[in-house]
Amino acid sequence: MTFRDDALAGQHIVISGGAGAIGVGIVRKLVEHGAQVTVNDIVAPDEARQRLQTAGVKLESTHYVQADLTLEADVRRLIAAAREKFGPVHNALCHVGTVFPGPLLDITLAEWEKTQSVNVTTAFLLGQAAAKAMIEDHIQGQLIFTSSWVAQVPWPEIGPYNASKAAMNQLMRSFARELATEGIRANAIAPGIVGVGLAKWQWDTDPTYRARAQKAIPLGDMQLLDSVADAFLFMCSPASRYMTGSILTVDGGCSLYPMD
Ligand SMILES: NC(=O)c1ccc[n+]([C@@H]2O[C@H](COP(=O)([O-])OP(=O)(O)OC[C@H]3O[C@@H](n4cnc5c(N)ncnc54)[C@H](O)[C@@H]3O)[C@@H](O)[C@H]2O)c1
Repeated sequence: MTFRDDALAGQHIVISGGAGAIGVGIVRKLVEHGAQVTVNDIVAPDEARQRLQTAGVKLESTHYVQADLTLEADVRRLIAAAREKFGPVHNALCHVGTVFPGPLLDITLAEWEKTQSVNVTTAFLLGQAAAKAMIEDHIQGQLIFTSSWVAQVPWPEIGPYNASKAAMNQLMRSFARELATEGIRANAIAPGIVGVGLAKWQWDTDPTYRARAQKAIPLGDMQLLDSVADAFLFMCSPASRYMTGSILTVDGGCSLYPMD
């Protein structure tokens, strides 16, 4: 994408789940455009560093904080560590997410609760803590939530995940509404079927999955990681300054119509 290399210069961005398959690509893009990034994940620091390095991230512009964001104390510790290292936070990316596949009739209560906790509670806790820090630091910053096209079109056999992303969208809109008077914005990015991690493995190894996914993507191919990262670059940049309460859908058309 043709953003200047210094498009994010002077910005401090916090991302949860930043050592995951998509997270490392986002971190790389943000750092390449001049941001300092506090990366959170639940994995051990050595593992996180290795994943970031393998993805080509310049580690000197990053700071890793291992924390479980389902826990309020860990979220507070993350924001405190982030501010201490790189100063006030300008963008907080509520990006962590998980999925338990299976038909709704077989999903256990534990799987349902874990999905909502990891996908929605972490977003609430990080959004709240980051916004409080922005207000304290007099920063008119932004919360960015990683949603999904399946918030609109229910992909079969991930019902709790579909519901969690719909909840996240409305949480984002609520933050947007309540924080507008502080000059703090909230937006979401809804990617499609991204060609990394589990989805890529299924695409490569499971012909049934591949046939279903191909049918669901009007543009045909799996989404490139770089296209997800570009959406985050845009949203973190001043180019998004008049957006709040929006869902930026970048899904190759997946959400245009029901897949069946
Ligand atoms: N993969 C896709 O096709 C796709 C499409 C649309 C949206 N998304 C969303 O993008 C985000 C990242 O997805 P991904 O495919 O990179 O998944 P991933 O599993 O590779 O990454 C998620 C990361 O979150 C971390 N994590 C889990 N629980 C945590 C906790 N309690 N506290 C802190 N970190 C925790 C994991 O260790 C992992 O590194 C998710 O929100 C997902 O819903 C993914």
